[in-house]
Amino acid sequence: MNLSISQLHQLMKNKFTLAGLTDEHADIVADVLAFADARGVHSHGAVRVEYYSERISKGGINTAPHFSYEETGPCSAVFDGDNGAGHVIAKLGMEKAIDMAKAKGVAVVGMKRMSHSGALGYFTKQAAEQGLVAISVCQSDPMVVPYGGSEVYYGTNPIAFAAPGPDGKAINFDMATTVQAWGKVLDARSRNKEIPESWAVDGDGNSTTDPHAVRALVPIAGPKGYGLMMMVDILSGVMLGLPFGRNVSSMYENLSEGRELGQLHIVINPEFFTTKEYFIDAIAQTMQDISGIRPAPGFDKVMYPGQRSDAKAESAKENGVEIVDEIYQYLISEHIYINSYDHKSAFNG
Ligand code: NAI
Repeated sequence: MNLSISQLHQLMKNKFTLAGLTDEHADIVADVLAFADARGVHSHGAVRVEYYSERISKGGINTAPHFSYEETGPCSAVFDGDNGAGHVIAKLGMEKAIDMAKAKGVAVVGMKRMSHSGALGYFTKQAAEQGLVAISVCQSDPMVVPYGGSEVYYGTNPIAFAAPGPDGKAINFDMATTVQAWGKVLDARSRNKEIPESWAVDGDGNSTTDPHAVRALVPIAGPKGYGLMMMVDILSGVMLGLPFGRNVSSMYENLSEGRELGQLHIVINPEFFTTKEYFIDAIAQTMQDISGIRPAPGFDKVMYPGQRSDAKAESAKENGVEIVDEIYQYLISEHIYINSYDHKSAFNG
């Protein structure tokens, strides 16, 4: 089903308010999800609405959270989200980090006790739009075999990085530290499409192309991706006094309990290190140099991170976005959720 971004946004928002979120929080969550779908990151868009709505309706996402924000040093702060909607907490946490980095050059803001916050590029883009460089990392539920291991320990622990460029453009790098995000497996399941054999393993640790048979994901680039996901868990979990490693809560268990997840934003004002003009010109030059590189066989052009997603988002403004029919039917239904995710292992579909 083809929907305009505003139609999609409204349908998702309706579900979240029906499930119990305030109008303001529902609006922000729908905005982050629509951002993902518009950019072709369907793994973190409408496909998640039913799961979130069930968790909201069962109390596992606090609909009336008491947020607290404490500056713990000259350039550091902790935002306690009281297990409210993760998208809201990450967005408000970034607003705080932006203000601090503008004034002080650097801001490190940890958000603790939150739920899943979706596509991290949304939050790094907030900073880039204000002329700031940003890194954001967060915990995710354990579903990855550590390098050399046969049991799950870490999550898909994503990393996003954005740097502002010319004319409102930005480099926005946003990735799971697994070969693919779990949501990509979910998306393949919803479309009944095979996955590449490099993405995941089955119950015996063998690679599989059947999204329904997946029992664990694998880190990018073996020990290197494994090291990055460990770094993310330390920055956004251990450092915030939260459960870490295999003790991070599961997305699809205990939907009536808060997830207690962590996320960390690091925001840097480039003007404290060089001039604004030099920085923007250098990013412009980087973008130009990269697009001038001769493509390898099988590629049309060389792009900077985020370029393809931004082009998709531009096109989605005119042409709308394609949503799987089953998801559309759910979105227009009167149900908060149809298929319960509660206590259903993510790996069993
Ligand atoms: P992906 O594999 O689709 O893209 C990764 C990065 O590569 C992006 O920055 C993209 O712009 C860039 N890229 C892709 N093709 C490119 C090309 N041809 N040239 C240059 N750059 C290119 O992303 P992935 O790993 O599937 O993650 C998807 C989303 O899932 C992200 O938004 C991430 O934040 C989110 N996520 C969120 C989690 C959470 O717990 N909140 C957990 C894991 C992922």
